[in-house]
Amino acid sequence: MERLDKVIASALNVSRNDARNFIKKGLVTVNSQTVRDIGAKVDEERDELFYNGKKISYSKFVYIMMNKPKGVISASEGRGEKTVIDILPQDMKRKNLFPAGRLDKDTTGFMLITDDGGFAHRILNPKNHIPKTYIALLDKPFNDEIIEEFERGIELKNDSLMPAKIKPLDSEYLTARVTINQGMYHQIKRMFAKFSITVLELKRISMGVLNLDDSLGEGECRYITPNELYLIENGKLL
Ligand code: URA
Repeated sequence: MERLDKVIASALNVSRNDARNFIKKGLVTVNSQTVRDIGAKVDEERDELFYNGKKISYSKFVYIMMNKPKGVISASEGRGEKTVIDILPQDMKRKNLFPAGRLDKDTTGFMLITDDGGFAHRILNPKNHIPKTYIALLDKPFNDEIIEEFERGIELKNDSLMPAKIKPLDSEYLTARVTINQGMYHQIKRMFAKFSITVLELKRISMGVLNLDDSLGEGECRYITPNELYLIENGKLL
């Protein structure tokens, strides 16, 4: 059991004081009963909480899938620039959320936002071989030689990259589906740049075997279900 005001404060990303005021004002219901007792406790596993009629999530950790738009940075603090955390809907915001991994400012697509540091570490650790797949639009065509080089693992400056998969999505070889297991700075752009090819557009479409939900417009997000979470860490590509 956990104190209701603490749960509300954490779930709504407000102070304990604000949470107590919401409770006193009768804005909080637990299992359809208005609770005005600021000392009340709730069962985190079972009780259903509503704030102002809207169901609130108060699980220990949350996992959010965002279709990242261009122009926002994947960081928690933007120092003047808008971040993926800034554009979360108000009712999804809570303390300690951060993006698990980086996408460049001009990259779009699947951004996972969580407050579970252990999970983020596991899915980003190259040793765990959790694939991340992107669609890249290129200024010049690639070819079978480049496919082989990517599959062997190329050298970038002082780094030897792990093997990456690349597949043409059009007959001109100008759109590529690229799967990597690492997340090095500007990795895909640098991989193509090695062959004097510029990436014009980049979108991440999956993490593990979980695809970006195509009903999410740019900037939209939704919670990831426990089954989907399992797929990211344990799903196997067929
Ligand atoms: N590779 C890049 O070059 N940019 C990204 O945003 C992600 C992977």
